[in-house]
Amino acid sequence: MEKKGRILSGIRVTGPLHLGHLVGAFQNWVRLQDEYECFYMVADYHGYMSEYADSSDMARYSKECVADWVAVGLDPDRSTLFVQSHVPEHAELHLMLSAITPLGWLERCPTYKEALEQSQKDIRNYAFLGYPVLQAADIILYKATAVPVGEDQLPHLELTREIVRRFHSLYGVEVFPEPQALLSEVPRLLGLDRRKMSKSYGNYIALSDDPDTIRSKVMSMITDPQRIRKTDPGRPDYCNVHAYYRVFAPDVAAEVDKGCRAAAFGCTDCKARLGEILVGYLEPIREKREALLADEGKVEAILRQGMEKARAVASSTMAEVWEATHFLRPE
Ligand code: TRP
Repeated sequence: MEKKGRILSGIRVTGPLHLGHLVGAFQNWVRLQDEYECFYMVADYHGYMSEYADSSDMARYSKECVADWVAVGLDPDRSTLFVQSHVPEHAELHLMLSAITPLGWLERCPTYKEALEQSQKDIRNYAFLGYPVLQAADIILYKATAVPVGEDQLPHLELTREIVRRFHSLYGVEVFPEPQALLSEVPRLLGLDRRKMSKSYGNYIALSDDPDTIRSKVMSMITDPQRIRKTDPGRPDYCNVHAYYRVFAPDVAAEVDKGCRAAAFGCTDCKARLGEILVGYLEPIREKREALLADEGKVEAILRQGMEKARAVASSTMAEVWEATHFLRPE
């Protein structure tokens, strides 16, 4: 099939992957595999920029991330699955781009200001300011035309395009396409406490959670705060539990909606039912991920194959970059 273009996307891994990642990103990545030529990357350098003070789990998170990807349907034979730090060209291009990126662009970047205010880690370091420069390098190394990301990443895509234009105007050669964000319609899944699902809030269901953990996490979910007694009619459109039904069990969501409004059952029963649905949904994913991790050398082999495919593209792009910027290269 004729591909629509090339995709690069990545995830900064600083902990276990959860349902928010699955619904918000990976399921979409899986769908894009046939339409585009896809490169999916574990952004371990990006993770390290904030986690440097305790990076003891980095290798495990990266490896488990890839096991999760394959378990949810990313196919290492159709997509290139790789780890950022395995392809040294990311660091090389990052350095080159950091020379042509004015400081003001980075200091003004809204995601930077937000991270400084919100991060629980000390990110007042040199690298973190350049976070979007590395992201730009990630994207343009592969000459990606489309980048599936959430809205929060739009400023980074805009910066990437600005860096590309600056490179072209400085050197008078067009090396890179200007990548476009691919904003697909994805359901928005909140955490157990109705805040954004995130590792730092501890309000997530991990893809690796066992059935009992899933059940007890679901039982702790906050439902419609106005529904105090079992006999009070509920408001499913306000209820986070119902939002989960809509995503994970659309075939029963309408019936649950009706029963909730009629107070035909209480929130406890409703959550117990959802717990079983999620256990059933995640079981095959967890089994596949565990089988992959138990298969000695399997994930490593997937990543070697990904690294080789990624490096072939990245090294040819770097050759063009060095040529355009007039560097002396070794013979
Ligand atoms: N910044 C992205 C995030 O936090 C991760 C990322 C790193 C990325 N490099 C990328 C996303 C390149 C898309 C393209 O989710």
